[in-house]
Amino acid sequence: MNRETEISLLKRCTDLANSNSREMTAEGSSLVARYVCDNEFQSELAYMRKLPMMVVHSSELPEKGSFIALNWLEDFPLLLTRDMDGKVHAFANACQHRGSRLEAPGEGCKKRLMCPYHAWTYDMTGYLKSLPHKEGFPSIDPEKTKLKELPSQEFNGFVWVQREGESELDVASYLGEMGEDFNWLAPEEHVLFEQTEQVWKANWKVIVEGGLESYHFKIAHRNTIAPLFRDALSVFDEFGPHFRSVLAKESIKFIGEQPVDQWNIREHANVLYSVFPMNSILVQPDHFATIVTVPIAPDKTRVSIKTYVPKNALNTEKQKAHWKANFEFTWKTLLEDFELAEQIQQGMKSGANEDFYFGRFENALTRFHEINQQMIKGSF
Ligand code: FES
Ligand SMILES: [Fe+2]
Repeated sequence: MNRETEISLLKRCTDLANSNSREMTAEGSSLVARYVCDNEFQSELAYMRKLPMMVVHSSELPEKGSFIALNWLEDFPLLLTRDMDGKVHAFANACQHRGSRLEAPGEGCKKRLMCPYHAWTYDMTGYLKSLPHKEGFPSIDPEKTKLKELPSQEFNGFVWVQREGESELDVASYLGEMGEDFNWLAPEEHVLFEQTEQVWKANWKVIVEGGLESYHFKIAHRNTIAPLFRDALSVFDEFGPHFRSVLAKESIKFIGEQPVDQWNIREHANVLYSVFPMNSILVQPDHFATIVTVPIAPDKTRVSIKTYVPKNALNTEKQKAHWKANFEFTWKTLLEDFELAEQIQQGMKSGANEDFYFGRFENALTRFHEINQQMIKGSF
């Protein structure tokens, strides 16, 4: 985000706060059937498989030989490696012999990946390097026994993977101007501090919606962030299918008392980058968090929350305690959202609602659903 954008976003927020108004568009809605229907979910997966998605931060594969195994979109077993040249790869975590999982979910560092079933052994670029009793497999072709590789790219300090496709990823084009906008954070100068992950019994869109409006802050987050934020005051901008939301804090009201050259958006607002369809980067005053949302089934979503802090701010116990408290507060707040999401999904079973309604100041929700429908139809 350049300085001009930072000031103009703060100006938009402070004008709204001073006039006690909100940026209004038309009302919107979404059919409840779209959150429960398996056909709808399959149509969403069909387009999602062709989009690059943020999976982990580069610091999570810190050295040559680092690997991470995780369950991803549709519970796809994914294995990320950093090879001996430092290049990142994304593989299906399945042996080419008879399909056994190579690594259990978790991370580590090694030169070779050895299958736990019959010890076929691969290097970190996915090539089969050795197998016991090779004489039993005279027709084995090293090319054909390479681990199944998915398109991936390390970009902006994150590792991006696409579920389907042969070509090289071009994450810069996918993010468009929003990619440049969040460069301002210097994501590659941060490291993972803490993480947690949980599967929630809710459709992925219910989880995403919780991050696209601040209308619920004063009520649903009354025990956590509510005192810090202005009631239902946010502004958002679209970058292709992606959004940047600015969630104004109470202090925005007094920003006029500061000279403009001292205005700092991280002091007076949280900035949330929503990378379509379902991942977000939440910019807080001195660090950022990611919310990686992974659809598994129409009513099942895995969400991982990770806190990243500046590399050079992890030296003292005091600093660590500060980050720990931040992580716990973020997690406590998001738990309030996810528990609500499960209740909403449960409520859908009652048939009480045909539509969900979005207010005039919740345009991000309306646009999110419009874009999702256009993506399904291939018209975005
Ligand atoms: S399944 Fe992996 S070595 Fe047999
Ligand atoms: Fe929330």
